[in-house]
Amino acid sequence: MSLDSQGPGRRILSHRFEMKFLKKLKQILTFNIIKWLWRKISGLWKRPRVLPVIPEAQSQLSESKEPLPVKQKDFSIIAVANQKGGCGKTTTAINLSASLAMEKRKVLLIDMDPQNHASAGLGVNTNKLTSSIYDVLFKDSDEVSLDDIITPILPNLDLAPANIILCTAEQTLAKADNGIYRLERAISRMRKRYDYVLIDCPPGMGFLTFNALEACDEVIIPIEIDFFSLRGVGIMLDAIKLLREQTRKELYVNILHTLYEETSFNAEMAKDVYLHFRYRVLETKIHRSPGLKETASLGMPITEYSQNSTGSEDYKRLAREIIKRIERKTESHIDASRLFRGLVAPGIEVEGR
Ligand SMILES: Nc1ncnc2c1ncn2[C@@H]1O[C@H](COP(=O)(O)OP(=O)(O)OP(=O)(O)O)[C@@H](O)[C@H]1O
Ligand SMILES: [Mg+2]
Repeated sequence: MSLDSQGPGRRILSHRFEMKFLKKLKQILTFNIIKWLWRKISGLWKRPRVLPVIPEAQSQLSESKEPLPVKQKDFSIIAVANQKGGCGKTTTAINLSASLAMEKRKVLLIDMDPQNHASAGLGVNTNKLTSSIYDVLFKDSDEVSLDDIITPILPNLDLAPANIILCTAEQTLAKADNGIYRLERAISRMRKRYDYVLIDCPPGMGFLTFNALEACDEVIIPIEIDFFSLRGVGIMLDAIKLLREQTRKELYVNILHTLYEETSFNAEMAKDVYLHFRYRVLETKIHRSPGLKETASLGMPITEYSQNSTGSEDYKRLAREIIKRIERKTESHIDASRLFRGLVAPGIEVEGR
């Protein structure tokens, strides 16, 4: 009797178990079908991302058959670039150059910006220049070379100045043969007497910036913490990736926090930036400091104006970090190059990947 009474009980139990199992299975299947459908549907409106690269640059890259100059490996070429304006490119180019010079490195700063802020910020009267970077880019190398325009600024620091004429360069470079490689050629023909060549880029992604990005081994991307800046980094990295994929040269990316203010919001955002870009983010942060604003108007780097100010200390620390990264080829530096492919900026959905 007890067996009979247990029989239906067991069956009910096993039936319940079966029902539970089937219910779970159904849930899993439904979830996976929905996931699959979602992927298919979302794929319909995902189109390959339109990169912010002007068409002439793309056609020059694919059509150019002329052999590229052999890169001199005995000095590092660093472009300071970000398409976003006012994020501290020129301030970084000037003060990092001066701080590297203080560390007894021979430095050449090339001004590639028609606004010529790097030249003016180092006290050069750009209205009185007889030749400038414009002539180097467009004249025969026998006529004007980089060596011819070099202006000594401080011990160990020279400048290749620019003036307003450079604003006509974008269009001319777009039409010129190999317009994207002009700066790289000029640097490769220069006498080898520097440890570092820094290039101050204009805002935007035009031919002047492309020339710098083609010529350099390293790029420093200054970012201020705000939504537009962080978005700009994603676009910038995509453009660099596209440029470099054509020429297959190595490029190290360094992200630098500039105009940084110590707030809890910024600390959170900086953490996010680090989580996305990891070793590409430089440890040194350049704080917002009034001295850096004042010094530009006086035509000198902060290291000359106020040795112990926050700005001066930040840039000296940055110079030491750059030296460590580049000259000692630290593990983080090597990792940065390995991680370069497939970069996405924080909070940004990149379509078509
Ligand atoms: N750390 C800082 N602290 C205070 N002011 C700063 C700092 N960095 C830059 N500035 C100021 O911010 C303004 C923009 O800086 P800067 O000219 O270096 O930017 P930029 O990226 O070169 O601009 P552009 O895109 O126009 O070339 C300048 O007035 C500069 O003096
Ligand atoms: Mg500038």
